[in-house]
Amino acid sequence: MTRILGIETSCDETAAAVVEDGRRILSNVVASQIDLHRQYGGVFPEVASRQHILTIMPVIRQAMAEAELDWDDLDAIAVTYGPGLPGSLLVGVNTAKGLAYGRGLPLIGINHIEGHIYANWLKVDDPPQEIAFPLLALVVSGGHTELVLMTDHGQYRRLGHTLDDASGEAFDKVGRLLGLEFPGGPAIEKAAQEGNPLAFKLPRAWLKGTYNFSFSGLKTAVLRIVQKYEDKVSLSTGSARNSRIAVSQAPSVIRQLPVTNLAASFQASVIDVLVEKTRVAAKEHQVKLIMLAGGVAANRLLRQQMGERSALPVLYPPPALCTDNAAMIASAGYFRYRAGHRSDWGLDVISSLKLTDR
Ligand code: KG4
Ligand code: ZN
Repeated sequence: MTRILGIETSCDETAAAVVEDGRRILSNVVASQIDLHRQYGGVFPEVASRQHILTIMPVIRQAMAEAELDWDDLDAIAVTYGPGLPGSLLVGVNTAKGLAYGRGLPLIGINHIEGHIYANWLKVDDPPQEIAFPLLALVVSGGHTELVLMTDHGQYRRLGHTLDDASGEAFDKVGRLLGLEFPGGPAIEKAAQEGNPLAFKLPRAWLKGTYNFSFSGLKTAVLRIVQKYEDKVSLSTGSARNSRIAVSQAPSVIRQLPVTNLAASFQASVIDVLVEKTRVAAKEHQVKLIMLAGGVAANRLLRQQMGERSALPVLYPPPALCTDNAAMIASAGYFRYRAGHRSDWGLDVISSLKLTDR
């Protein structure tokens, strides 16, 4: 039996978890900073790293206690070293290094995106779904949108990526435009339930002949619609034209914006492109299955559409394992440990680390 302690601090969650043999979760502790960042409408990097410093050791101690293990029961410590916010990553990496050195344990640096993919290995249903290569992973989070062909453990080929905003980032920005709370993804999904996805004809950037994505045009299209409503309202109320601050501060104005229809139309547009590109790439590369990973993979419409529009098995983690956590880092750490990978004490954070770097 191999037990790995995983540590994750790349963005705004301080997380630690213990996973056995890459699949069985013995503990999984996530201290979210969302409430702290909500007042800024996004993650404030300096605040995030300071909060990681305060929370990291209590979170690790809790993960060890919940797993009912001593340090001697561990085989290695796996930690996210990129991509992410440099100051946040530093807290996890330095803590992991100190603990590994002090306890005489191997240290394994993990790519955060690889971690998201490995959330699909964590055993949640019984019996677990068989995973066969090659597979196609759609990684959709606040920082990334990538289509990845995985031919074996640790073997990746990036087929496509976003040219501008990540899909989660687009959800967050549009959420802000619609006056919804941060993070925008879950808020838009909720609002969309009451809306009509056909209400607004929003653009889809197909970028034909590539597996790349672009969401900035869609975001701008939503912005233009919001501005039109603001103009309408400011004209009818006689307030200053284009005075966005005055408008967004007036609750009556926000209410006039067709938020639910805009949310539903925006969500449908993002998901249409994600699903179609994944479906075509899966066919071209004759993969055995499709995996969804990252925070946006928690979206129910994405899961449902992917399943309906592709004949292949579609795997996705439960919502709590789609968003940032350390169990996924421990799982990826297990497969790297098994393959003999070890990091040295010079392990440093790489904020723009690519999946294919090593
Ligand atoms: O993977 P994650 O926790 O952090 C990063 O590595 O970025 O992803 C967070 C992102 C946020 O942009 C959030 O709005 C989005 O995932 N998200 C969702 C949903 N839940 C979280 N997007 C769409 N629908 C959801 N249900
Ligand atoms: Zn993430």
